Amino acid sequence: MNVLEVQDLRKHYPIRAGLLRREVGRVRAVDGVSFHIARGETLALVGESGCGKTTVSRCILRALRPSAGSIRFAPEEGQEVDLATLPKRQMRPLRRHIQMIFQDPYASLNPRMMVGDIITEPLKVNGVPAAERRERLMELLELVQMPPAARSRFPHAFSGGQRQRIGIARALALHPQLVVADEPVSALDVSVQAQIINLLLDLQDRLGLSMLFVAHDLSVVRHVSDRVAVMYVGRIVEIAPTDALYRAPRHPYTEALLAAVPAPDPARQQRREAARGEVADPANPPPGCAFHPRCPYAVERCRVERPELAATESGRWVSCHRARELDLLGVG
Ligand SMILES: Nc1ncnc2c1ncn2[C@@H]1O[C@H](COP(=O)(O)OP(=O)(O)OP(=O)(O)O)[C@@H](O)[C@H]1O
Ligand code: SF4
Ligand SMILES: [Mg+2]
Repeated sequence: MNVLEVQDLRKHYPIRAGLLRREVGRVRAVDGVSFHIARGETLALVGESGCGKTTVSRCILRALRPSAGSIRFAPEEGQEVDLATLPKRQMRPLRRHIQMIFQDPYASLNPRMMVGDIITEPLKVNGVPAAERRERLMELLELVQMPPAARSRFPHAFSGGQRQRIGIARALALHPQLVVADEPVSALDVSVQAQIINLLLDLQDRLGLSMLFVAHDLSVVRHVSDRVAVMYVGRIVEIAPTDALYRAPRHPYTEALLAAVPAPDPARQQRREAARGEVADPANPPPGCAFHPRCPYAVERCRVERPELAATESGRWVSCHRARELDLLGVG
């Protein structure tokens, strides 16, 4: 089985009002999301702020309990659990297999702990003996390209990029089967972003990592992901192999996101336009296709009938009534 299979995941938040706190509506933060991650594969989850990316990640880590759907996780071939419904107690032994890389390398490391202790803390919690921890620490520092002397210093001595390396070393300490990285480079300078992406590429090669890589724009995920899932207002609108998606998007929202990615051909770049207007409100999404108020290709049908995610080519699913007839621009 794949390392992860998410089926029809939903996370709704009730909106309550009045003296009796009656439910008057729902924020549909995640509203029927399905995808899988093969062993050794990196899937990027991309979309504008508020589309539900973090909610999906937190459901997988079971920091949130999903409202519906299944999250089947197989730490090893033949083992399989549904993280969506697993009682908290049974979740504990599984935690080591799913690790997180955080967005903010300043907030995510304990400032009062030495780097060596930060990185080996998960090993200590899991009862790994001191000698083995020291050995693993040296391996991990080498893996993230940090000098051995870093272990006896405090986080404040390091730059954002170096701190992110420390966070990555900590996430990898227990040989996780799945890494969830929620915007791991968004808080870093552009030049440093490239270094961390290169490090992740190197780790994919060396360790065969399986990863969910969350980002709000398509420019950072091109080289690090095998496939890309594009989200809009709680749903996936397109999912495809990375090269195919960049070359020829099939969903108008994917095309709009590609406007932020530099194209080798300037004429192409000029023809692409970012999406106009505001992201729809997940508490009150537009009827029909949620993207229709912003879509330059919308027709009457789009305003009344919600498109379903459907296979268009091998390995590609798109939710757009006009996916087959539109000739959209990629970045080449
Ligand atoms: N506890 C909550 N109660 C009500 N609504 C929530 C709650 N948590 C998140 N939301 C809403 O759910 C939607 C999805 O939020 P989420 O944080 O998953 O988005 P995101 O894609 O990660 O955005 P960003 O790029 O800003 O990190 C947003 O509209 C958000 O306001
Ligand atoms: S279904 Fe219609 S509105 Fe939605 S993306 Fe496709 S063309 Fe645009
Ligand atoms: Mg988020």
